[in-house]
Amino acid sequence: MAKITLNPARSKGTINKNIYGHFSEHLGRCIYQGFFVGKDSQIPNVNGMRTAAVEAMKHIKAPVLRWPGGCFADEYHWEDGIGPQEQRKRMVNTNWGYVVEDNSFGTHEFLELCDQIGCEPYINANVGSGTVREMAEWVEYLNSEGDSTVVRKRWENGRKEPFNVRYWGVGNESWGCGGNMRPEYYADEFRRYQTFCRNYGDNKLYRIACGPNVADYNWTDVLMERAGKFMDALTLHYYTLCGDEWAHKGAATGFSKSDFYKTLVRASRMKELVENHSKIMDKHDPEKRVGLIVDEWGAWYDVEEGTNPGFLYQQNSMRDALIAAITLNIFNQNCDRVVMANLAQTVNVLQAVILTEGDKLVLTPTYHVFDLYKNHQDAREVDCFVESGMVGEDQWQIGKITASASEKDGVITLTVANLSADEGETITLEGVCAKEACGRIVKGEMGQYNDFDASPIAVEAFDGVKVEDGKVTITLPACCVASIELR
Ligand code: AHR
Repeated sequence: MAKITLNPARSKGTINKNIYGHFSEHLGRCIYQGFFVGKDSQIPNVNGMRTAAVEAMKHIKAPVLRWPGGCFADEYHWEDGIGPQEQRKRMVNTNWGYVVEDNSFGTHEFLELCDQIGCEPYINANVGSGTVREMAEWVEYLNSEGDSTVVRKRWENGRKEPFNVRYWGVGNESWGCGGNMRPEYYADEFRRYQTFCRNYGDNKLYRIACGPNVADYNWTDVLMERAGKFMDALTLHYYTLCGDEWAHKGAATGFSKSDFYKTLVRASRMKELVENHSKIMDKHDPEKRVGLIVDEWGAWYDVEEGTNPGFLYQQNSMRDALIAAITLNIFNQNCDRVVMANLAQTVNVLQAVILTEGDKLVLTPTYHVFDLYKNHQDAREVDCFVESGMVGEDQWQIGKITASASEKDGVITLTVANLSADEGETITLEGVCAKEACGRIVKGEMGQYNDFDASPIAVEAFDGVKVEDGKVTITLPACCVASIELR
């Protein structure tokens, strides 16, 4: 028996809907063959964007999409991706599989995609191999109304009104693929770049600095000290691996029970990372003006056999659904500092929510977790304290139950996952007196996944929640994620 105590009087504030954001890079089949199939494709599309993928993203209310990278961002020159598609410059994507990038998906196409999904664009600019002028002109091209040569180019490309793009990242992984910089050097670069990125009209830029890799606390400290007052947010990247080295990250399917628990324990490290980086940020910014954006997170396994190793294509099982539940609960519970997060990556790459093959499309178990959690977007976080036993194998032990809660329009949403591979759990809920409750659930065997010929994992109605005299009891099956609405 487990217990969850909700305390609606205690809250860390509003859960920014952008915590439910996504990330799409020019990597493998994320953009090309994923989102973007081209206007002439037989696959149903609107202006080249795959309709089924756009509809799927709308359904989970995707609030924000980060682009064009990732490591690709620091090799990307935005002017190569505007103008008539057949005249665009070609390049080789040296980060990801050395394939030819014909730039047919560029800035206008990205903004068209965001428009169709109904989400905000988050553009990550090039610092590693770019220039201050290049970034400043990208901002001008998209946001200015002035009659400059740069803006005239936008008009020539068919867009009179400014796009008013708000979210701008200044470099990606500048400590690694983005230039191997030291934090002291990057802090100065950030100060310089952001100076020349102007606000146009009423559109105030949201300036995002490249933050640390995993537990590089020195990076956060130096950056906050030297450049904190110039930024709106800094980023954190953390990927969950199953194997112990990058060369052997573990398989996405067909894993052992020990590997299942090991991966969940590693995913839960996000709590320690968010809390520790937040503490350092608190030292420099006690008012919490600067946000923490986890703009790359998710599971990273070995690629599926027979696929291009540079394309990072992996399957997505119930284990990944649990990783998403663990991580999103952590973000909700730290919403006083975490203002955005972007799962890597939306289609066909890493912990994707969508997989495609030709004209076929599959929604992964992770997709369904985003569906279950969508009520949390812009809701008021509610303090949620979980008491449960441990599950695991060997040294890989983790609390059996993970949960978070929020309140909007008089409805409390509780999202809860049972991390046991094979044992159900009954939970009593304290702290709220409910009149009625209903729920939805995603459940399956730990290694089960959806594929192009069968999709056994889907959102189902959940009948394991009971209300008697105001008291709520939840009976969860093994290996599941549920969303419960209490009224
Ligand atoms: O998401 C894949 C890669 O992981 C990104 O390009 C990079 O930023 C990170 O190392």
